[in-house]
Amino acid sequence: MEKAKYTVTAALPYANGPLHLGHVAGVYLPADIFVRFLRMKGHDVVYICGSDEHGAAITLRAKKEGITPQEIVDKYHTIIRDAFKDFDISFDIFHRTSSELHHQTAQDFFKVLDSKGSFTKATSEQFFDEEYQQFLADRYVTGTCPNCKSPNAYGDQCESCGSSLNPTDLIDPISTLSGKTPVMKSTSHWYLPMERHEDWLRAWIKEGKLDGVQQHDPKEWRNQVVGQCMSWIDNGLRPRAMTRDLDWGVKVPYEDATGKVLYVWLDAPIGYISATKQWALDHNKNWEEYWTGDRKLVHFIGKDNIVFHAIIFPILLKEHGGLVLPDNVPAYEFLNLEGDKFSTSRNWAVWLHEYIARHPDKSDELKYVLTSIAPENKDSEFTWKEYQTRVNSELADILGNFVNRALVLTQKYYDGKVPARGELTSEDQSVLNEIAEIPNRIEKLIYQYKLREAQAEAMNLARLGNKFLADTEPWKLIKTDPQRVETIMNIALQVTANLGIVLQPFLPATARKISSFLGLDKNEWSDAGNPDLLNVGEQTSAPTILFKKIEDELVNEEIERLESTKMENTSNVAPQKDETSFDDFMKMDIRLGKIIAAQKVEKADKLLQLTVDTGIDQRTIISGIAEHYAPEEIVGKTVSVLVNLAPRKIRGVESQGMILMAENQEGKLSFIVPEKEGFDPGSEIR
Ligand code: MF3
Ligand code: ZN
Repeated sequence: MEKAKYTVTAALPYANGPLHLGHVAGVYLPADIFVRFLRMKGHDVVYICGSDEHGAAITLRAKKEGITPQEIVDKYHTIIRDAFKDFDISFDIFHRTSSELHHQTAQDFFKVLDSKGSFTKATSEQFFDEEYQQFLADRYVTGTCPNCKSPNAYGDQCESCGSSLNPTDLIDPISTLSGKTPVMKSTSHWYLPMERHEDWLRAWIKEGKLDGVQQHDPKEWRNQVVGQCMSWIDNGLRPRAMTRDLDWGVKVPYEDATGKVLYVWLDAPIGYISATKQWALDHNKNWEEYWTGDRKLVHFIGKDNIVFHAIIFPILLKEHGGLVLPDNVPAYEFLNLEGDKFSTSRNWAVWLHEYIARHPDKSDELKYVLTSIAPENKDSEFTWKEYQTRVNSELADILGNFVNRALVLTQKYYDGKVPARGELTSEDQSVLNEIAEIPNRIEKLIYQYKLREAQAEAMNLARLGNKFLADTEPWKLIKTDPQRVETIMNIALQVTANLGIVLQPFLPATARKISSFLGLDKNEWSDAGNPDLLNVGEQTSAPTILFKKIEDELVNEEIERLESTKMENTSNVAPQKDETSFDDFMKMDIRLGKIIAAQKVEKADKLLQLTVDTGIDQRTIISGIAEHYAPEEIVGKTVSVLVNLAPRKIRGVESQGMILMAENQEGKLSFIVPEKEGFDPGSEIR
């Protein structure tokens, strides 16, 4: 059977900041392992990435840094590209969406869809910032999430509950440009009527079938991916705007569409195609072969990208026609850092380029740890302590120790020449059997995108070799039974040679070192599993240490660095309470009330007895504010009052409601007062 052909993509990172370990663990490294393996298996494969240089992510960052969007993308494209290179991520191309070729490709794609009637055009009222004279797309508006009521939702997405939003869904929208409430202004845009596609998407995602033809095995897709997609579809797909009023992005390719650009989530995935085109140009290939026919398209992404890669981009590809749809969309959950979420704004992150600068030659150590904890099915966590433990007790004590022993003893006993095997014990036989079996198990796991387990299986080979030497103790036997030692060392060297192959996808630098100690140059997967990789008499060389132990000092330094560079902002703020429902909230009757009298409550330092005009009536309220306000200064003030709180007796007086107060981090209290004139007692607050 002909080997499947693959086009593998890794989500294009926004060129609005450097990469941190969360990005690496959940997209670029797993994709890299997968691709390195496919290459070894002899699949025709191309590995595509590049930077995503459009959208509000970029322009907002530019505004924050006080430089132009072009300067922002140039700066971060370079940092990101170099970090990937130094970390030895083996993209065939790392392109960028600001390139001319990409703009053209995206515009052509748009025109094809438009000419096929894949879009609808509609005029609607959108938020507009009058001060900045700009429409407020996506992240240009923030407000309260209509679903979870988190106060910091963006116009395109709520990061708290993950729901995808339109700016006009937000409660109390605020422009991120001026900080003011936007006005509505009408504008026309191209929309993708996603609701037209529900039926085929359902069959394609659930059964892997397109027009009744089996495309992929739906069981191979991760549950989270299928689950998220089905919940989107079951909730009913809606038209989604595919253009924006912005001056940064791919221009809508029509004369009468000035000031309009393609929506970044339309242009970015087309970036996979334009990157393939550039790569094909550079290598004398035909790009279309990589996007048509019998080819598996695989998108490695983070879970926040699922809908774009498993619903929206497939719709676009299908509407365009002639292009393949993804065979799988392996999406990763999130990686946390030392007990908290990675956060760019709070600078709570380990940045890849900084790790490389501080720890040159420790790429494989980081790769190993990140793959070991990869958030394949659930969120996971990176800690420096675990980094240390895994490097020391797995890489150094098992893999490094084994390879070193095998080669050093070979130097000592045989001047580095591979000895011959004699009669085999059952233990020998079982090691040889494992040499043959382990590559099969790794292979199966990689095809199932279980890279964490696959790496563990490769490490099992090292573990086995290490145990074999520890159990057989050739350094003791050499005096009494030198012939037996020849057999033992032959087997140990065959295990070492096999490690030089099966580790290649995961720890490429280490695998290269091991192979070079053995003078071996095998890099096809089919070379693995062979218990006679090394011929008797072949010359090996003295090894160098593969992994240095990580000292406590490094762990402490790294943790201190994190703590000292972290931006304090919300750390003293009380954590958000459990969710409440809109209905529960609406049961509270909160009004403006005017204080018409105030006096101290006897023998109670903290309490004032107030008479409040609630608009409904005049009533008595006992309030714990005596340390914050003197009675005489508050008479006449209009404040916020919870009026339907069940009455309570306090110090013998019935209190009929509660004055609402803001409390700051020092415990100081303040009334909550109306900001404008003309708000009389009885006005409702909601
Ligand atoms: N830049 C996006 C992110 O970081 C990913 C874009 S993936 C692509 O979330 F498909 F649009 F390219
Ligand atoms: Zn929400």
